[in-house]
Amino acid sequence: MTEPLVPAADAGAAPPKSTPEALPPPAAEAAPTAAPAERAGRNGSQPLLQIEHLKTYFPIFGGIFRRKVGDVYAVDDVSLEVKKGETLGLVGESGCGKTTLGRSVLRLTEPTAGRVVFDGIDVAGLKGDRLQKMRRRMQIVFQDPMSSLNPRMPISDIIGEGLLAQADKENGWAKRDLRDKRVGDSLESVGLRREYSRRYPHEFSGGQRQRIGIARALALQPDFIVCDEPVSALDVSIQSQVLNLLLDLREEFELTYLFIAHNLSVVEYVSDRVGVMYLGKLVEVADLAALAANRLHPYTRALFSAALPADPEAVQEEVILAGEVPSPLNPPPGCRFHTRCPEVMPRCSAVEPSLTEVRPGHRVACHLYGDGVH
Ligand SMILES: Nc1ncnc2c1ncn2[C@@H]1O[C@H](COP(=O)(O)OP(=O)(O)O)[C@@H](O)[C@H]1O
Ligand SMILES: [Mg+2]
Repeated sequence: MTEPLVPAADAGAAPPKSTPEALPPPAAEAAPTAAPAERAGRNGSQPLLQIEHLKTYFPIFGGIFRRKVGDVYAVDDVSLEVKKGETLGLVGESGCGKTTLGRSVLRLTEPTAGRVVFDGIDVAGLKGDRLQKMRRRMQIVFQDPMSSLNPRMPISDIIGEGLLAQADKENGWAKRDLRDKRVGDSLESVGLRREYSRRYPHEFSGGQRQRIGIARALALQPDFIVCDEPVSALDVSIQSQVLNLLLDLREEFELTYLFIAHNLSVVEYVSDRVGVMYLGKLVEVADLAALAANRLHPYTRALFSAALPADPEAVQEEVILAGEVPSPLNPPPGCRFHTRCPEVMPRCSAVEPSLTEVRPGHRVACHLYGDGVH
């Protein structure tokens, strides 16, 4: 069976205006923080987060004795760094391990192997109080704002819960009035009114609920936020508002983002650098501009050529990939992409290519590059 590769849920080419591919350009007053030129300066700075050889496997049990019959190799040996103040966009088709990677970094999902070093501290070794303290600094905004907010709780408790868990003598969050003040402040910083804290999630629209999700992350005054497809569940008309809000907040609070999305225009809009994932592996990482100029990995080329161009007149090289995404339970040997790669060579099924720097700051895992093959 031959199927064109389309980046996940946005398949089915609707007219550009009604798809998330056609994010409207930012309004003039909201634009300054989004200008790539202004964000370019960050790239020389120190890594805030270092992910080293991270693996997260999910055991699968089967048969009447519920024996372990295999593993889902959701994240398989990923090394990546996120520099202070930058937004690293992570793209790839649905099921390639983006969420698992984000959750493993925060230890919401326990990694199987590898290291996560945040601001010089190995997160894996942390327990009890020290883990709790680290959690305050690393937050997550979830994909679905409805299911991530408890419908039985007023907003004051939804946001206050995290504050209470992090309460100490210094912040005084054990006291209700201080907590309420902090909740009100964070609601205001996401453009909602303080008094909304008395309301329940169902009283808000989708966009407002995602703002509440962002306020919950912000309330703890984090340094780093994993944004896991934060606009995928929202109407197209409000996606850019929420994206601009996230960009403004990044400036205001000096945040660093790991920004997960399957929608390439979203990633291009917010990211300084981009990492491309395929079946649990990172296949290419580069600055946004370098990636736009040179898409090296055949998968990256296919992924981007399947997206609708911002300029409909632009001539696009169309790459159609054969086959379906293989199962992460039983990934292909060698390069995981070789079963669908239009440029496959004999060694691709035998030898796994490592992620190698081919230009300064541009890394790719493909036998076409390096070793003087190409
Ligand atoms: N808790 C889990 N148990 C078993 N398999 C899981 C679990 N969470 C995710 N997976 C599997 O891991 C792979 C990666 O999933 P995920 O990280 O959600 O991908 P993405 O966010 O890129 O869509 C998928 O094959 C998914 O089915
Ligand atoms: Mg996901």
